Amino acid sequence: MVDHRISLTRYLVEQQRVHGHIPSELRLLLEVVARACKRISFAVNKGDLGDAMGSAGSENVQGEMQKKLDIIANETLIEANEWGGHLAAMASEEMEGIYIVPNRYPQGEYLLLFDPLDGSSNIDVNVSIGTIFSVLRKPEGHPGVQDADFLQPGNRQVAAGYCVYGPQTTLVLTVGDGVAMFTLDREQGSFILTRENVRIAEDTQEFAINMSNMRHWDAPVRRYIDECLAGAEGPRGKNFNMRWIASMVADVHRILSRGGLFMYPWDKREPHKPGKLRLMYEANPMGWLIEQAGGAATNGRQRILDIQPGQLHERVSVILGSKNEVERVTSYHSAT
Ligand code: AHG
Ligand code: MN
Ligand code: MN
Repeated sequence: MVDHRISLTRYLVEQQRVHGHIPSELRLLLEVVARACKRISFAVNKGDLGDAMGSAGSENVQGEMQKKLDIIANETLIEANEWGGHLAAMASEEMEGIYIVPNRYPQGEYLLLFDPLDGSSNIDVNVSIGTIFSVLRKPEGHPGVQDADFLQPGNRQVAAGYCVYGPQTTLVLTVGDGVAMFTLDREQGSFILTRENVRIAEDTQEFAINMSNMRHWDAPVRRYIDECLAGAEGPRGKNFNMRWIASMVADVHRILSRGGLFMYPWDKREPHKPGKLRLMYEANPMGWLIEQAGGAATNGRQRILDIQPGQLHERVSVILGSKNEVERVTSYHSAT
């Protein structure tokens, strides 16, 4: 039986050849990242049958305890990408500094940033987790690569995506021509196009936020959530549902699949930090995907993709999803 399904490879070749959207080097990069995600998926799916569960007993630059799978996923992405000649360097949530491609390999023109395993608190309880990645072009005009080369706003990304390890393993990707989703066919070991031109409804009745932090929120966020909780009898005139998976990848995947609003806002627990989530390898790639699907992403006051980064691991307040809801929350911030 002839397989008429479109594989990731064919989708990328067509993006390169037919639409002229991506050069062959970027196509190669995305294929390598997808293969690395497939390997991470197999490690994740072993669970207690493998030896990748539990804590690694070390702390990362974020001051968070690392899980074994955080490190395995990080090493998998480094090893898969360093020899191909498409990258100049990589940056990861799990590494303090940038990782420059070793001299024994050719250097390329792209920079790859990633959260190798997002939602790590869910690893040991069998809840969906994922890998998030973002691709920038290395700035020209100087040999080699420096830390500052990574400090580009999210509107300079050339590709962004994630792979969610859930009931299905699904790769979600944009190269600036809309959002496409590829489901892993485990029998053939290939990612198959299952959705493209994904669109998010501009309105929603579903919000995602960690409610246990309510007493720490700023007034605009508090006002928005109070109005949602007041339901049909309140100012919104409709009832809302709530979801919080504590894996950004899984919450964003739900929003790309059926709409919704996701918020991890600044709160006064650590007032010196602008938020919990990281700009370069969580908010920027997710923000671009959401915008490419017709949604919006701000930090309450500014489009996330326009934020000029000051340092590699900087954090940001995140409000993203259905456009009209993001605009409402953002308007509450500008009213203060
Ligand atoms: P990571 O596991 O990469 O550190 O990311 C976890 C993030 C994000 O995925 C999720 O939305 C958020 O942390 C959950 O935070 P809480 O546990 O505070 O709800
Ligand atoms: Mn994360
Ligand atoms: Mn992580």
